[in-house]
Amino acid sequence: MCGIIGYVGSKQATPILLKGLKALEYRGYDSSGLTVQSDRLVTVRAVGEVSELVERVQHVRTQGTAGIAHTRWATHGIPSVENAHPHADCAGGISVVHNGIIENHIELREELIARGHVFASETDSEVIAHLIEERLSDCRPLFAAVRESLARVRGTYGLVVISKEIPQTLIAARMGSPLVIGVGDGEYFIASDPSAIIEQTKDVIFLDDGELAAVTSEGVSLMSLDAQEIQKETQQLDWDIETATKEGNPHFMLKEILEQPQVIENSCRGRIDLIEGRAVLGGLKEVEDRLREIDRVVIVGCGSAYYAGLVGEYLIEDLAGIPVEVELGSEYRYRKPIITERTVVLAISQSGETADTLEAIREAKRKNALTLGIINTVGSSIARETDAGVYCHAGPEIGVASTKAFVSQLAVLSLVGVYLGQLRGSLSDRNAGATLAALYELPDQVQEILNDRNLVTQTAKKYSSIENCLYLGRSFHAPIAYEGALKLKEVSYVHAEGYSSGEMKHGPIALIDQGFPSIVLCPEDSVFEKNCSNMQELRARRGPLIGITTKGAQIDHLVDARIDIPKTIECLQPILSTIPLQLFAYEMAIARKLNPDKPRNLAKSVTVE
Ligand code: F6R
Repeated sequence: MCGIIGYVGSKQATPILLKGLKALEYRGYDSSGLTVQSDRLVTVRAVGEVSELVERVQHVRTQGTAGIAHTRWATHGIPSVENAHPHADCAGGISVVHNGIIENHIELREELIARGHVFASETDSEVIAHLIEERLSDCRPLFAAVRESLARVRGTYGLVVISKEIPQTLIAARMGSPLVIGVGDGEYFIASDPSAIIEQTKDVIFLDDGELAAVTSEGVSLMSLDAQEIQKETQQLDWDIETATKEGNPHFMLKEILEQPQVIENSCRGRIDLIEGRAVLGGLKEVEDRLREIDRVVIVGCGSAYYAGLVGEYLIEDLAGIPVEVELGSEYRYRKPIITERTVVLAISQSGETADTLEAIREAKRKNALTLGIINTVGSSIARETDAGVYCHAGPEIGVASTKAFVSQLAVLSLVGVYLGQLRGSLSDRNAGATLAALYELPDQVQEILNDRNLVTQTAKKYSSIENCLYLGRSFHAPIAYEGALKLKEVSYVHAEGYSSGEMKHGPIALIDQGFPSIVLCPEDSVFEKNCSNMQELRARRGPLIGITTKGAQIDHLVDARIDIPKTIECLQPILSTIPLQLFAYEMAIARKLNPDKPRNLAKSVTVE
């Protein structure tokens, strides 16, 4: 997500911070800023690329040998100078950069405003600055003030604080959002990502969750949130800058696949109330009354986002009992769509900038529909133009082929299904509770699949010379078959067709022979038997078969290879089935000596018709 860099030593901080920010640009950004400590704290912020900040810095005196800086990728509040980090307290005595999400920021903000604090931004992060300010004014030392403030905070953070009063000291803290301290000769660096400091030093100390560090030019002292001293060894990184940006992975696509347990957690963070058994979607609150009255949902999207929409159709119909249609953004405006004031048009988009999806939303607005977005990029065009929505919080997706964004869209659609079902009284408490509890378990189950990924690698190696592949799935898994085929096409250039299993006999089976393999999504669910019959039919035509199934399913007599995944409830199983298909596409690209991060002819965001 966002990037952090801090410096304390004997050199001028500003050029080092700007260089670090440049190295962090690959993560995606919409604004950036820095604070340097001199006789006061000097802060400069800018919207857009880091070069905009470089330009602004030239007109400000930013002399000083300690400082902090940040590139932001918006989560709370649109990209703007006010929302860019660092954030200051009311008195301008401290400055904070923060990655992560403060879940209880609304209640903390209300509390702080009631005690006279004035907020300058819409961000969740700013509450941290004001919390620290209060403790400093009670004469607490900076380190203690930060630690005690963090005890009030619920959520995730990787943060660095600098103060006007305490020269040459940075305080860092981590909970769920990475931070690394770089150890130089009489100088120290703090970064969210080693790529920001790897050119300065390879000696590092990684902070773990629940740890704080006081960093000066003389050294580092570490402490836990409950004030216990911690000792840690310095480690040596053998990464170059290229490897560092991918966090040690050979490609962004793999990095993003491996991130998915965390991504699902982030998409659901603060949105699952297990005690009350409710989905909490603050972004839909304002339109709750209209949502009670709707009689139809139309989902629009392109590519993978469209396929996510197709899963959404099953989910929302199943959980909320509202009729759903899914439309390709690129086709929608060429029809004469029938939209009434009781229609919700829901756009799904990672970038929030896909031209066809945006146009579909504009068309829906012209017809007075309520428009919603499930968008990953905060402040993007679709996010701004829809009436309300739910952000995916998947973090910037750099790999051209969508992986983590798709999975986050499915997680959010499940929440939307539960939310609408509860709002309209069509979902029983028992079903809602069971769905939310299963959703809560998903990150661990995804991790389990990722831990066993060796089998997918071997299977991909075995099939690496194929030129065609059929993907089949039924019910919730039909759209996952389409998505699996799309991934394979995109990154390994193997011709792949995604079909719903029931359609196989209406045409595609004519293709099948011993040189045309099929991947069948066949978890043990309500359509398992039917999928087994289809596999029998493919076998009878001597077609090689790979089954993606749940542990213990009796399919060995039907398949040439099987990849097992954990079982969850039927409506969430597609989230788990997607993971081996992403890995398979990735490993096929590697086996075929292709670069999956740079598929030919594709752009990450399609902003023209
Ligand atoms: C497939 C892929 C594309 C996008 C599509 C929509 O791997 O990445 O199909 O899903 O271009 O993009 P967004 O979600 O940005 O609207």
